[in-house]
Amino acid sequence: MQSFQLHERASTVPTNSYNRQDWQRGYESVKEESDYWIDDVEGQIPPELQGTLFRNGPGLLEVNGQRIHHPFDGDGMISAIAFRDGRAHFRNRFVRTAAYLEEQKVGKISYRGVFGTQKPGGWLANAFDLKLKNIANTNVIYWGGKLLALWEAADPHRLDPHTLETLGKDSLNGVLSDGEAFAAHPRFDPSCSQDGGAPCLVNFSIKPGLSSTITIFELDPGGKVLRKHAHSVPGFAFIHDFAITPNYCLLFQNPIAFNPLPFVLGLRGAGECIKFQPNQPTRIIVIPRHTEESVQILKTQSGFVFHHANAFEQGDEVFIDSICYESFPEVEPESDFREVDFDALKPGHLWRFHLNLKDKTVSRKLIEGRCCEFPSVHQERVGRPYRYMYMGAAHTDTGNAPLQAILKIDLESVERQLWSAAPRGFVSEPVFVSRPNSDKEDDGWVLALVYDAAHHRSDVVILDACNLSQGPVARLHLKHHIPYGLHGSFTPELFI
Ligand SMILES: [Fe+2]
Repeated sequence: MQSFQLHERASTVPTNSYNRQDWQRGYESVKEESDYWIDDVEGQIPPELQGTLFRNGPGLLEVNGQRIHHPFDGDGMISAIAFRDGRAHFRNRFVRTAAYLEEQKVGKISYRGVFGTQKPGGWLANAFDLKLKNIANTNVIYWGGKLLALWEAADPHRLDPHTLETLGKDSLNGVLSDGEAFAAHPRFDPSCSQDGGAPCLVNFSIKPGLSSTITIFELDPGGKVLRKHAHSVPGFAFIHDFAITPNYCLLFQNPIAFNPLPFVLGLRGAGECIKFQPNQPTRIIVIPRHTEESVQILKTQSGFVFHHANAFEQGDEVFIDSICYESFPEVEPESDFREVDFDALKPGHLWRFHLNLKDKTVSRKLIEGRCCEFPSVHQERVGRPYRYMYMGAAHTDTGNAPLQAILKIDLESVERQLWSAAPRGFVSEPVFVSRPNSDKEDDGWVLALVYDAAHHRSDVVILDACNLSQGPVARLHLKHHIPYGLHGSFTPELFI
C-alpha cells in the first residue's frame, strides 16, 4: 500500500475499538414516529447549511417480536433532518408499503425476505412462495418534485416530502410497469451533453437470469424519462450500484453463481443462494449512454463490489474508484447477523480500476487499505475528474470492524483526514454537502448519523469538510436512536 499522511485527533481508544454489545444495540427497532425541533445541540449549526437531509434504512428489525433474519429485510423508514437558519428539525416515518401495512395488521411475518427472513412454519410454509416484498428501504431521493424511496428489485414509493406520508408506488409517469425494478443507486449527472448541459438523473435496473437484462434510464430535472434502453449480457447479474461518466454507464458483474433451488423449496432466502466464484473474473460492463456503439465487457480480477465512489474519462481511458471485497460476504441461513464475526470476514478496500477501452484491458491499484464503505463525493464532480472523497471507515487501520470513523481522502496529495467516533460511536453513510456559491471542491460539510451507544441515541454530526479531523462543528442529539441505515441524499430544498 502506498504511504500517506494521516491527520487525526489524538485518541485514547484501545486497539479493539468497540464493544460488541454496543454495536448490537444500534440494530434495535425504532417503532415510534417523531416530529420535533432538535434543541439538544453541541456546537453550532452553520447558518449557511440550508436544506433537507433524507435518510433511508431498516427501521424494524422484527415484526411483532419475530426477528427478521438480516437488516436488508427490514422495513424502510425515512428520516428527514431539515436545516434552517442554524436550527434543525427531525421527522421520521415508515414507508407504508402494502407488505408493511399487511404485516402490521396481522402482527406477524407474512412475506419472505430476499436475505433469508422466512414466514413462520418452517420450509413447508415457505416453499414455492416466490413473491417479493417491496420494502423500500435502501435509498431516498428528491428529484423532479418527487420524494422517492427506492429498493432495487421493484418500483419506487412516492412520499410527501413535507410530512413523509406515503402516497403510493410511482411509475415515473407511466414508464415503469407495476413491480418493475428501478435500482436504489441513481447517479446525478451535473451537466448532460445530450441535454444542453442540463442535469440528468441516470439509473438502471437488472432483470437477472441465465442471461441478464440491464435497462438504463435517464430523467430530466422535471422527472420525465428522456431515454430508456435495454441490453442483454451473458450470465446471472447481481449488481447493486453503478457509476457514470459523460459517455458511459459502468457496471461490475460480480463473479457469483446462483442456485435458486433452496429458495424455491423454502429452505433459504434468494440472497442466501448466491455463491462467490473466486476463480472467475469480475466483468466490467461498459454501456454507451448516447450512441449506438456496442456494449463492451472487460475482465478484471475476481472481487465483489457493492458501491462505487465515482468514475471519469480521459480519452479512451476510464477510471472507476470502487469499494472492493475479496469475496461476497455470504449469508448463512442459521446465523444471526448480530453475532457476525468481523474478523472472519474480508473488509472492503478502495481500489482504482483503470480501463483502456481501445486495448480492452483493465488494471487496478489499491488506494485505501483501511476497512471502508459508503463513499460520497461533491455532486458537481460526479462522472468527472475529482480530488476528494468521504467514506465511512473502521477506527483501526487494519482488519475488519464496524464503521466508526469518517475518512476524507485527497486523491491528489494522498493526504488523509480521519474523525473517529470510537469507542462508543458507530457511523452511517457520510453525505457531502457543498457550501452555497463556493467552487472549492471540499468547501462544505459532511453530514452523518452516528449511533451513540453511551446514550442509546443517534446524533446528526456536522463536520467541516476542509478540517474533518478537527471533529464536528455541531452534534445534534436526537431523542432516540435510528437503526443503522443504508443510503440517503441532501437537497437544498427545505421541507419542515
Ligand atoms: Fe447501496
